[in-house]
Amino acid sequence: MKPVSSGSSRRRRRRPGSAAVAGILGLALPLVLAAPGGPAAGSARPSAVASDASCPWLSQSLPIGQRVHMLLARMTLANKINMVTGAGSTQPYVFYISAIPSLCVPAIGEEDGPTGVGDGLTGVTQMPSAVSLAATFDPSLADRYGQVVGSEERGKGAMVNLGPTVNIDRDPRWGRSFEAYTEDPFLNAAIAAADVSGVQSRDEMAQVKHLAVYNQETNRDTQADNAIVSTRALNEIYLPAFYAATMKAGASSVMCAYSTINGQAACQNRYLMRATLDRRWGFPGFVTSDYGATHSTVPSAAAGLDQEMPAAQYYGSALRAAVEDRLVSMATLDQMVTRILTEMFRFSEFNHPPTGSIRATVTTPAHQAVSTAVAEAGTVLLKNSGGTLPLPENRAGKVAVIGPAASASPADAGGGSAYVTSTFSVSPLQGIRAAAGPGTTVRYAQGLPTDTSLSRIPGSALTPAYPSASHGPTYTGTLTAPETGTYVLAYRNPGRYAAIDLSLDGKVILANPGTPPVHTYSVGVNLQAGRTYRLSLSGGGRSANLSWATPSELAPGISRAVAAAKSAATAVVVVSDDTESEAADRASLNLPSAQNELISAVAAANPHTVVVINAGAPVVMPWLSQVASVVDAWYPGESNGTALAAVLFGHVDPSGHLPVTFPVGLSQVPAPTPSEFPGTNGRVLYREGVNVGYRYYDATSETPLFPFGYGLSYTSFAFSDLNVTPQQIHNGTSGPLVTVSARVTNTGRVAGSEVAQLYLGDPAAAGEPPRQLKGFQKVRLGPGESATVHFTLGGHDLSYWDDAANGWVVADGQYQVYVGDSSALANLPLQGGFTVTSG
Ligand code: BGC
Repeated sequence: MKPVSSGSSRRRRRRPGSAAVAGILGLALPLVLAAPGGPAAGSARPSAVASDASCPWLSQSLPIGQRVHMLLARMTLANKINMVTGAGSTQPYVFYISAIPSLCVPAIGEEDGPTGVGDGLTGVTQMPSAVSLAATFDPSLADRYGQVVGSEERGKGAMVNLGPTVNIDRDPRWGRSFEAYTEDPFLNAAIAAADVSGVQSRDEMAQVKHLAVYNQETNRDTQADNAIVSTRALNEIYLPAFYAATMKAGASSVMCAYSTINGQAACQNRYLMRATLDRRWGFPGFVTSDYGATHSTVPSAAAGLDQEMPAAQYYGSALRAAVEDRLVSMATLDQMVTRILTEMFRFSEFNHPPTGSIRATVTTPAHQAVSTAVAEAGTVLLKNSGGTLPLPENRAGKVAVIGPAASASPADAGGGSAYVTSTFSVSPLQGIRAAAGPGTTVRYAQGLPTDTSLSRIPGSALTPAYPSASHGPTYTGTLTAPETGTYVLAYRNPGRYAAIDLSLDGKVILANPGTPPVHTYSVGVNLQAGRTYRLSLSGGGRSANLSWATPSELAPGISRAVAAAKSAATAVVVVSDDTESEAADRASLNLPSAQNELISAVAAANPHTVVVINAGAPVVMPWLSQVASVVDAWYPGESNGTALAAVLFGHVDPSGHLPVTFPVGLSQVPAPTPSEFPGTNGRVLYREGVNVGYRYYDATSETPLFPFGYGLSYTSFAFSDLNVTPQQIHNGTSGPLVTVSARVTNTGRVAGSEVAQLYLGDPAAAGEPPRQLKGFQKVRLGPGESATVHFTLGGHDLSYWDDAANGWVVADGQYQVYVGDSSALANLPLQGGFTVTSG
């Protein structure tokens, strides 16, 4: 059993009917123009002039520093402790700082999150998963996405949005991959900065999370998730998006993580917070701890943790005592409070505190349109042989839509704190039916049972019988298979933010995280008739409701799907991995249930089989060669079927590109051994160093199933006319150094979008991976049209982190420039270069 972390044995959450406390002041003063990277100038509400003699810091004509100073001087120790200590989870927001009415300080509500307003609030827009946003390779869409989230959080009365999640997808098993963007630091930084700008343009503070190296759920918030990682990998891979979000986009705050980094818990990690965020970057905002991620009083305050959440454990009275005992100086506490107040003044929170309420309906048709647009633009066409897609809309034809995920149990969103309750949801079947032209008949076959409809495993197969009161919270028994073939095993986790694992012969085959929404999860296993297997569940007792479907129980549904596929021109099988969530990592990259078997059976019956994947991360595709087309639609949010149908019928060109590498299997990933993921003996060895994601595949000459950056379109593109200027530069020159341009031509018959990508190969002396993304541009072109894309490389793009110099260094030598449409060399037709010399 996985240790239950302090971050997961809690919760939660909302008290129905509790009122929003923010907005208590009702004071308003004229607008001050926002600082760069802050809320949009002119976007605040017009306000009547008011002044409060007892709170002179409300005067917006004074500089922020002076206002902070005036207020701080009037604060008691108790007031200061109040500002840095969460008021507990009984509040309307998941994180909450109480107001100080006597000082005109408004309450601070902080609410998840990264893919829309979370934590069970309703009346909101369920956005596509963040990985789907990254797959758009379109920062302008990320800005619009952020605007939706920011304005809905604000409408709910939350002052701070707990998002975006910018942790790197180090391993495809990470349960939270769907709510993070990508494995690549450059794409991560670009999308993060745009998302944060969007959020903050709606007067909402963004809290970028989770600092840092939080890349797995297994052992989370315990010292066993102790990432042993090089300073170089930290700076080159794990930190750039935090830098972009804070120092370029001006994020108000940062959330420190559940992870431990090189022996020091993130929320008291001096390297991350004091040395990097504070001293090297000069970040002026504040740092909040993740839920229960504070592990000390004095070391945390000394390292730069400004706010403990959700409630006083190490701050509150413990911090007060530490200040009184001079273990934490008043200057340190003042600095912590200053950071929080500075951001509150910058966002005009004293003069315009949020007035929204958690009960407000904040979703709008315009927000829903952004959700749909991102779902469409993030959809990745992975395979399309014989022009199977787009579907022939107005020609007579039958389409068989197959799979539980198409209708009975669609997978729109991932689980955990990033889960967003949808206001409505369009299933793939509904979307396809709505978009099909008059000449098209759509027939549905579910193909497999839903995970909740399976039957109890009979006493004849399971010893002892399940459930049995005598077995307490766990179950261990032996399973004897009555027949040979694929079985589906399913169980429920009633929701405790703690995974319940299912093991077969001692190997964990499924981890159910127990996060919202409560789910029954399933796994397909091949068993042999007459063989006996050890089976155990690490928790859940009777309520886990362990159930199964045998091969012969599965056969009729699969046969009906095959029959539907045979009678149709095209078979669309919608499959999902609905097991991705905070609080557990995936035990494998397999699709749950018997979906692989379903695909193979359908593909054998119809050569025009299209597989649609709804998942937040890579899955393995043993059936890839058997099917005509594959579409990865991620978790598309509430517009699932609408966006999917637009792509399938060709109303929208699929223009998403993979923000993560899809491996052939787990043996191929950059962290393949248990010591690397999820760690052994209290250490997680980040042995791959900077070779994360495609950098690893390139460095080891591994060919993945699909490379980073890959994505097809309904048209075709050619790259030409690479121009790199100048060819030679002097090391030490500042400013933009190299300009790269290339021509992209739509060589097909329909309009479409291409993502031109620039990868840089450093001289060998730099010790970098073969190629690194340093530029991308999405271009939309009509048939026959061309466009020139331009990229600029600055000194930072050329540099690597040098430990000896404790900084960035540019190596002398020959740099290779590659331009094309994926990270794989085969997709990088343009190659050139330039030289850097010293002296
Ligand atoms: C998650 C954070 C989230 C917080 C508040 C934690 O479990 O790791 O991402 O913001 O809860 O819900």
